[in-house]
Amino acid sequence: MFNNGFTRSAAVLKGLLVVLACVSGAQCLDYYTEKPSYMQTCRINDPEFVKCSTTSIQKLMDQLGKGIPEVNAVIGPFDPLKVKEIQFAQDNQGAVTLHANLTEMVAIGLSKLVIKESKVSKKDYSWETKIYIPKLRLEGQYKMAGKILLIPLNGAGHMFIEIEKLNILMRTKTRLYEKGDFTFYNVTKIRMDLTPGGVKTNFENIFNGNSKEVERSTNLFFNENWREFFEALRPLITETVETTLLDILQKIFHLIPANFFVEDIPKSTELYAKGKAN
Ligand SMILES: *[C@@H]1O[C@H](CO)[C@@H](O)[C@H](O)[C@H]1NC(C)=O
Ligand SMILES: *[C@@H]1O[C@H](CO)[C@@H](O)[C@H](O)[C@H]1NC(C)=O
Repeated sequence: MFNNGFTRSAAVLKGLLVVLACVSGAQCLDYYTEKPSYMQTCRINDPEFVKCSTTSIQKLMDQLGKGIPEVNAVIGPFDPLKVKEIQFAQDNQGAVTLHANLTEMVAIGLSKLVIKESKVSKKDYSWETKIYIPKLRLEGQYKMAGKILLIPLNGAGHMFIEIEKLNILMRTKTRLYEKGDFTFYNVTKIRMDLTPGGVKTNFENIFNGNSKEVERSTNLFFNENWREFFEALRPLITETVETTLLDILQKIFHLIPANFFVEDIPKSTELYAKGKAN
């Protein structure tokens, strides 16, 4: 249940129902059975669906920024958001090699996220979402070995990457399933295409403390050549953002029925029986 230290209004509580038994007394799997007041429901067969869906997802994001106790109980705070540990390895037959481990990471700025367009496919209920984030800051501890812009690096310490005017094209695969009388999205896969408008960065201790002066000039070099810097780190940054958002979206959409977003969504049996989707 959601009664571990969270206070919330009776109205919010009313929308919840404990459906499944608690697993060994530790974790209960709850979901909304009444539509929360901040949600806007759309019909996929409506010609204005994309417009409606864009507003609907924006409202959810705005509310997430303000806090939704039942959701935050599962995902934690939305901004700053805790990022899972990332272990990254890129080996291109020796040409570009980069190994990085990111820990104690947070993402700052998601509460200012703008949904520019939210499309849902009638065929397989995959999504295509255009997102804009004015400023996304990834900050934490790094350990890195490899090369960025031909500079051999071998360091560990605190780092941040601040991406300004970030446009994201997000493609999401889903699989519908039912709980009780509701249909839910199981978010199974995410692919992101990131287009930054600017990048600021700083890696402390980038040469394992060998020279503060060289460290400063290297970070300056990265900032002056931020486009090339971003391209070099694109796979790492993309993986970080994808992993983070996939986890969040999975958790949110196990809690909130898809029917509250798309009123006329088919049941999974209808959709998959037709052989319309895999
Ligand atoms: C990242 O962590 C893994 C597992 O702990 C380790 O094998 C690898 O060497 C680390 N990479 C770096 C660059 O420190
Ligand atoms: C969601 O999909 C994953 C695999 O993609 C699967 O392991 C999991 O059981 C699914 N969850 C539900 C509730 O259907």
